[in-house]
Amino acid sequence: MDIDFDSLADKAAAARENAYAPYSGFKVGAALLARSGKIFIGCNIENAAYSPSVCAERVAVYNAVSRGENDFVAIAVAGWKDGAPGFAFPCGVCRQVLREFCEPDCFAVCVTDGANKKINTLSDLLPESFGPNNLI
Ligand code: THU
Repeated sequence: MDIDFDSLADKAAAARENAYAPYSGFKVGAALLARSGKIFIGCNIENAAYSPSVCAERVAVYNAVSRGENDFVAIAVAGWKDGAPGFAFPCGVCRQVLREFCEPDCFAVCVTDGANKKINTLSDLLPESFGPNNLI
């Protein structure tokens, strides 16, 4: 599948605008591409009790899975504090959640600072992972 990373990164940056991050000020947006070609977005949503806070990547995955999609080929992530753009890679928990619904050697993780991109496979970021096949 030909992936338009520029467009996916733009969608992640747009999703970032809806981030609810009053505690950290660190706003993150994600755009998740399903094998079907559909794109699902997410943003981080923080909470006054802190621990219920959830990352943008997981919101995108849960958004997609709840709409019947569970096979993904790429994600773009845009995360930084307003006025201080930089690259933010998915946290460990989000890497594991993504791993559940993809082929890690092929799944592309694209992080953007709003201008430039870095692209890795999920296997690069989560080597020797534990996944659904371990439980067969
Ligand atoms: N955050 C994400 O949304 N994705 C990540 O992969 C790393 C961290 C969020 C969680 C929290 O709302 C804020 O960034 C600071 O950690």
